[in-house]
Amino acid sequence: MCGILGYTGERQASDILLNGLAKLEYRGYDSAGLAVLDGGEIKIAKNKGRLKVLEDRIKSGCGISGTCGIGHTRWATHGEPSDVNAHPLWSDDMSVVAVHNGIVENYREIKNKLAEHGYKFYSQTDTEAAVKLIDFYYKQEKNPLKAIIKAIQKIEGSYCFVLLFKDFPNEVWGARKDLPLIAGQGKGESFLASDVSAILQDTRQVYYLDNMEIVQLKKGVVRFFDTEGYAKPKELSEVTWDMNAAEKGGFEHFMMKEIHEQARAVKDTLGSVYHSGRLNLADMGLSDENIKKISQIYIIACGSAYHAGAVAQYVIEDLAKIPVRIELASEFRYRAMPMDKDALAIIISQSGETADTLAAMRRAKENGIKTLAIVNVVGSTIAREADSVFYTMAGPEIAVATTKAYSAQLIACYVLAVQLAKVRGEIDDAESERLIGEIQKLPEKIDEILDEKERLEELAQRFANARNAFYLGRNIDYAVAMEGSLKMKEISYLHSEAIAAGEMKHGPISLIEKGMLVAGIMTQKNLYQKIASNMLEARSRGGFLLIVATRGCEALREEADFIFNIPETDEHFAASLAVIPLQLLGYYVAVARKLDVDKPRNLAKSVTVE
Ligand code: AGP
Repeated sequence: MCGILGYTGERQASDILLNGLAKLEYRGYDSAGLAVLDGGEIKIAKNKGRLKVLEDRIKSGCGISGTCGIGHTRWATHGEPSDVNAHPLWSDDMSVVAVHNGIVENYREIKNKLAEHGYKFYSQTDTEAAVKLIDFYYKQEKNPLKAIIKAIQKIEGSYCFVLLFKDFPNEVWGARKDLPLIAGQGKGESFLASDVSAILQDTRQVYYLDNMEIVQLKKGVVRFFDTEGYAKPKELSEVTWDMNAAEKGGFEHFMMKEIHEQARAVKDTLGSVYHSGRLNLADMGLSDENIKKISQIYIIACGSAYHAGAVAQYVIEDLAKIPVRIELASEFRYRAMPMDKDALAIIISQSGETADTLAAMRRAKENGIKTLAIVNVVGSTIAREADSVFYTMAGPEIAVATTKAYSAQLIACYVLAVQLAKVRGEIDDAESERLIGEIQKLPEKIDEILDEKERLEELAQRFANARNAFYLGRNIDYAVAMEGSLKMKEISYLHSEAIAAGEMKHGPISLIEKGMLVAGIMTQKNLYQKIASNMLEARSRGGFLLIVATRGCEALREEADFIFNIPETDEHFAASLAVIPLQLLGYYVAVARKLDVDKPRNLAKSVTVE
């Protein structure tokens, strides 16, 4: 997500803002900017690219003086990285200037409404719609608080805003829903930040805003309001974290922080295409006519993205009745494979820069195949070269081992499967709504699983010195096994292998040794007994049975050595829940082995070479 800062006090705002934003660089961003309110005039400096570019411009005297301002580092979600789309964004007469973190899900509707009132738009961002909506009410109310209250009643999504109003010198305003916003109290100065690490060098006295609260900063004075406009008293807290802990939100590693951000990534990814009861995939070249013509789907990716595709294969085939091939990009790019002209190639990539995946996509395009990319980085090469893009909303992922981006990829695949099935008449509207309703419940179920993470921490101690592990599954559970196995091997360096459970007897079972970890994933009711017998074969040869099973699955209750139950959900979407304990297990074994969880040896976050 983006980095946000606000300041008002006696010092030069640009210095404070640049220093604070530098503390947020670790989060990943593609553009940066700031605005300073000085004597009734707001001056702005912003650009695509690094904070250093902004700092050099300001230091070389582009004249941004003033003691009240706002700053931002942007991770693009709507509108590719560019100078125009960088924050801050402003109303046409510059009376309202704002920075924003999060997603305005109904920005199209807001823009259409405002256009009826003569508003025009210069950027591709959802933020500009929100800023001009606030401006619309400000023109009526001439009062920042009332304007903000009216606007946030109309805005759907998760967000935090920090704003300047030209007519209110030395004041900074803010509001949040679902995304964090912190107010800092200093001597004769006050701060707003999306992340406490941005203000830690200036103050440890902070207030944490609650949802739908509005905040007003004056020099050294912080006031809070509810959506009725009433002032709200709030408790001042002392931050005890050091900078390192603060960057990780108090978690020991970015990976654990990102495991805990999965519920948000899932919610935001669904929210980016579903609101007011409708799926909107029109921007993705998936018109009803195009969807009906699809004869075959190729899902092409690497690593965890490939594993997300492996889940999608089962889900799309079962719901939409379209044959799906999953292809390792590094293989696909060199295969002499006849391709069906009416096929759709779905290219999955978190970074959007993976060399093999990019080359494979180009190969598909050379063969006249339509390409749809599922990508997390706006404006990345794969996103730009694909015929259309479905952006996941996981935000920047720092840990090399992907978790929240993988989970967001699953959501994108589920949504595609539901839309394909509905348009092709394989499911009716009622079934489509039921399925979307099941997806909407996943975030709370993910968090429910995380509440039990200590059980996996204990289990991991037992395998801190293990040398091998098997992950078994069938159907969607086999695809989950692939991802669970990769998480274990890539961060704990424990050799592990995912096996289609039915394949055990064709060779791998010879590897079972006493005490060897054999994880079985069981979420597909019609296959419970099948996989149970595979697991018992492993147990009878001394394997340690770890079962990840949907609550209510009675198979292996007596024979398993460790059972982790996950909440019930529609079986098409069970991978989103079954993968969580496996991510945690891999994480805790790596921690038990005192390894560099976030930066495992030999690995890069984005493999931009062949
Ligand atoms: C996942 O934990 C790995 N870091 C790796 O397998 C990754 O998924 C793969 O390199 C693909 O990357 P991409 O999604 O950015 O294309």
